[in-house]
Amino acid sequence: MNSTVEVCFVCLGNICRSPLAQGVFEALVKNEGLQDRIIISSAGVGNWHVGNPPDARMQQTARKHGIHLTSRGRQFQAGDFKRMDLVLAMDQSNLSALQQMQPASELQDKLFLFRTFDPDNNGDLEVPDPYYGGDHGFETVYQMVERTCPKVLERLKTQLAKKHG
Ligand code: 4NP
Repeated sequence: MNSTVEVCFVCLGNICRSPLAQGVFEALVKNEGLQDRIIISSAGVGNWHVGNPPDARMQQTARKHGIHLTSRGRQFQAGDFKRMDLVLAMDQSNLSALQQMQPASELQDKLFLFRTFDPDNNGDLEVPDPYYGGDHGFETVYQMVERTCPKVLERLKTQLAKKHG
């Protein structure tokens, strides 16, 4: 039996940070031939950008690193938790919004801050929102996402193995 695991990256607007994480993670998973085993999406806790493509500045930064972003803005729904194996919030305020959707018991071992998996986090677990800043903020987000995604993949591989895939 080929089991699957499902991960969702979540930020505020779903047009900058989480679409980048989705795009970088999709490329990594495809590279390892696991695209049929790991289901990947992103979402926002807000609804302002539902249906929108990623911010042009985020697309440009991703393109510079060979990553093509394909997501469209979607708002995370409380009901999404049920099918998810891993939900990764980009900052503390996104995490708090997600925690308010479900009893804590339902979220244990499922909901984390994305940078919990960043090998260079030095205790800083925020992916800073680049939306209102300059171009440098987008590159900073890229660097965080690039070094963190392999660790997220390690965790999902462990979760896949537990499902006896
Ligand atoms: P994101 O960035 O949460 O990384 O997608 C933002 C995008 C839009 C807004 C805020 C943050 N906004 O306020 O519209």
